[in-house]
Amino acid sequence: MSDRIVHVLGFAGSLRKGSYNRAVLRAAGELLPDAMTLETFDIAPIPPYDYDIEVMGFPEPVVRFRDRITAADALLIVTPEYNYSMPGVLKNAIDWASRSGDHRPLDGKPVGLMGASPGMAGTARAQAHLRMTCVCTNMLPLSRPEVLIGQAPAKFDEELRLTDEGTRQRIRDLLVALRDWTLKLRPLP
Ligand code: FNR
Repeated sequence: MSDRIVHVLGFAGSLRKGSYNRAVLRAAGELLPDAMTLETFDIAPIPPYDYDIEVMGFPEPVVRFRDRITAADALLIVTPEYNYSMPGVLKNAIDWASRSGDHRPLDGKPVGLMGASPGMAGTARAQAHLRMTCVCTNMLPLSRPEVLIGQAPAKFDEELRLTDEGTRQRIRDLLVALRDWTLKLRPLP
C-alpha cells in the first residue's frame, strides 16, 4: 500500500443535537485507520436550494461546502432515514453540491455510507435512495461493508458515545475499505 494519506470529509443528515447519526460520525473520528484523516462539515447553514439564488452566486455556506468536498479525497455520508429515504436537509446539501458552477465537486468522488435509526432496518432504505443519487452525481460509493445501525438507542451511552463493539468494528472495517477504495480509484500520479 502507498503511504499516501486519504483525507475524508464527513457529514451527517441530521441537524439535531442529540442525533445518533452525528454521533456515528463522531465515532468514526475515533476509529480511523492509519493514513486517513476525517474533517466534518455541519450542513445546518446550507439554505434551501433555489435556482434564482444560484444564478446570483452560491451562498457562502454552499461555497464552503463545495470547497471542502473538492479538497477531500473521499466523502463519508451518515444518513438518518425519514419516510424510507434520506432527510430533505441531506438531499438539499447534495443538490447544491451537484450543481456545476465552475466544476462539479461530487464527480468521481469515492464515498462511504453509514446510517443509524431506532428501527430494525438501520437506514437500509435511506441508503438505497442515497446510492441512487450517487449514480446521478457520479459519486462512487463503496458497496461493502454496509453500516446499517438498527436499534440505535441501545448502542450509545447517555453522552451519545457509541458503545456497541460490533458496530465500532464494522465502522473500522468500512473506513479501511474506504481508504483502500480511494487509493484504488485515485492512485498516486
Ligand atoms: C423518522 N424515523 C424513521 N426511522 C426509520 O427507520 N424509517 C423511517 O422511515 C423513518 N421515518 C421518519 C420520518 C421522520 C419525518 C422523522 C422525524 C423520523 C425515525 C428516525 O430514524 C429517528 O428519528 C432517528 O433518530 C433520526 O436520526 P437522528 O436525528 O437521531 O440522527
